[in-house]
Formats: sequence, C-alpha cells, structure tokens
Amino acid sequence: MIMRTEPLLLTPGPLTTSITVKQAMLRDWGSWDSDFNQVTAQICDSLLAVANAQDDFVCIPMQGSGTFSVEATFATLLSPESKTLVLMNGAYGKRAATILERMNRETVLLDMGDYLPPDPQEVDRILAEDADITHVVLIHCETSSGILNPLEEIAEVVESAGCELIIDSMSAFGALPIDAKTLPFAALVSSANKCFEAVPGFGFAIVRKTLLKECQGRCVSLSLDLYDQWQYMIKTGQWRFTPPTHVVAAFSQALVEYQQEGGQPARLARYQRNRDRLVAGMKALGFETLLKDRWLSPIIITFLSPDDPAFSFTAFYQAMKQRGVLIYPGKLTVVESFRLGCIGQLHDEEIDTVLSAVADACQVLGLTAMTTSQSNQQNITNTAITV
Ligand SMILES: Cc1ncc(COP(=O)(O)O)c(C=O)c1O
Repeated sequence: MIMRTEPLLLTPGPLTTSITVKQAMLRDWGSWDSDFNQVTAQICDSLLAVANAQDDFVCIPMQGSGTFSVEATFATLLSPESKTLVLMNGAYGKRAATILERMNRETVLLDMGDYLPPDPQEVDRILAEDADITHVVLIHCETSSGILNPLEEIAEVVESAGCELIIDSMSAFGALPIDAKTLPFAALVSSANKCFEAVPGFGFAIVRKTLLKECQGRCVSLSLDLYDQWQYMIKTGQWRFTPPTHVVAAFSQALVEYQQEGGQPARLARYQRNRDRLVAGMKALGFETLLKDRWLSPIIITFLSPDDPAFSFTAFYQAMKQRGVLIYPGKLTVVESFRLGCIGQLHDEEIDTVLSAVADACQVLGLTAMTTSQSNQQNITNTAITV
C-alpha cells in the first residue's frame, strides 16, 4: 500500500488525483511543438466522444478555471439581442446570472432557493409566456448543495420552445451520461479538475458547430473568444495564448486512466458507490443529509451540522485535517452545513478512512447530541424540501 504523504481531498475539484496523473506533469512541453498539439487534439476528440458529439459539435479548451469557460461560452454565443432564462438553485446558477448581468445580456431568473430543482413545467410556462427568451442556462449538478438537476426534462421543454440550452456541467460531465445525439443542447461546459480527475488549469466547451460558426466577432473579450480559439486551433493546432502545458499533459494521462477504468459508466458506478458508502457511514454516526436520498448526486453531499454546541465547522475541519482529510464548507444560505465530495481518486478504502476520521473527530470534539439542529430542521421544513 502506498503511504499517503498528502491529505485526501473530499472536495469537488481540485480533488485527489492519481500518482500517475501527478507524474505526467514532470515533463516540459513546447507549446508550439507538434507533439503537444497532438495531445491537445486527442483530448478534444476524446471529450467529444464522451458526449457522443463527434459529428455535430466541436470541443474548445480554454485556459483558466471553469468559470472562465462558462464566461467564454456566454460571451461567444449570446448576442446583445439574446434573452436568457437562468435556472438557479445555488451558487453556480447565481454566478451564471452575475456573468450575464456584467455582460449586459438580458436575463430572466427562476430562483429556486438553495436546493429545490427547477420544475420543467414551470420552465415550459415561462418560455411560453415570453417569446423573447432565446437561451436557457441550467446547472447540471449544482455543486453548492449537490443536487442533480433534471437535465433531460429541461432540455426537452427548452427544445420544444425553440430555445437553446447551455449546460454548466462542470461537476458532472464525465460521470453523468451525456448523449448529444439524443439530448438537445447548444453548449456544455466543464473543466479538467472534476470528474476526469485531473488538475486545475483549463476548462472546455462542447459547442454545436452550426451555432459557433455564426459567432465570429461577437465576443467582446479577446482572451475569452471561443470562436477565435477554435479557428486558431483549426489553422495551427495550437492554443492562441500560452496553454497550461503541464496541466494538459496531466489531463491526457487522466483520460487514459478514465478509459482504463471503463469510461463514464464505470466512473459513475464508483462515485455512486462512494456516495452510498459515505452516506450510510455518516448516517450511522448520526449525521443527516440536506437532501432526500433520491436527490443525492454521486458528486458531492451536503450534511447538516449537528445540534451540539461543541460543533463548529472550523473545529470539525481542523480535527479532520489533523486526520489527513480535507472537507468542504457548506454553501447554503438558510442552514448550517458542510460538504463531502464523492469524486476523485476515492475508493472504498479512502471512504472508510474518511469515516474513521469523522468518528474520531466527533469524539475529540466531544460531540454527543448528533441530531440536526432544530433551527436547521425548521428552515428545511419551511422551504418544502419534500420534492
Ligand atoms: C457547477 C459549477 N459551475 C461552475 C464552477 C466554477 O468553476 P471554477 O471554480 O473552476 O471557476 C463550479 C466549481 O466548482 C461548479 O461546480
């Protein structure tokens, strides 16, 4: 067994990567060199294949974190005449709306609060009542609560209303199935350091070719112009500006390991297993999940903070850190919570390590009353979580 010299990351990206993915960054690459260009081309082809999108879509990588790719996609695809319905149920939906507002693009917001899914019928009604809406933005897995939004149902109503769907699948693509042959969408955005288990440094957008062809000169940002990045790659095989070479090499290795594991179905199965083991173990220790079982994604789980004056996130975090596990704070506005990720190089053994660390941390902090706080319970009841 390899002894761990670094903490386990129970966070939704950056996450725990394999030693071989880390080792892939030990070589320097010439960013103009044909060997490196080939790596980039293979990555884009592989990502298109994961989405079954080889025929009608292109994959454009973009330097930066995932948000850069979301912003690049909006800035490239949405014209000043567009009007976008943003389906929000957490921090990343809010961020999408903020980006659009900064860009002066007209928006309509459907805000479901912290953790309720958007109702496809309501989306249908909004689109029917406002013929000016041209685009809809959906967060596939809203990482701030862990909820998996009803992508297929939403895509169906968006298509029948004649609108275009942009999917922020940052924390889901690679694990959750996407089939561009059956799922109608304009663009899907994700990044290197989530379900493909590589390191942070670039994101990518998978965009319908016919749409992108119409977007020349639309983006007001030079560096975020997906059309220009696409065209430059076609002409030269290169990224327009300095690529994160080592990160790209690590991603290429991560893709090899993704395929070796069995691709999307196998990755999903492992993450589901991690989720189930984690949730069962945490429940046995007295913790409760924010969401009912059927809304729990295999990406990240929100647990409610226990009703015990001895519990504080900071103390719990430090106790976990001392035991070699980094957890994630909650990101909800109405309840106290913390999050544990299911993604990354986590297997049964690592999940068991996490659960032992939680048990130890509880003991060290002297936590006894392991029930959810009454105010938390009340807040959840008030927001009708029983969807
Ligand atoms: C659904 C979703 N969208 C957008 C982002 C933003 O990505 P980044 O933090 O890499 O900019 C994240 C990050 O976790 C995310 O989970």
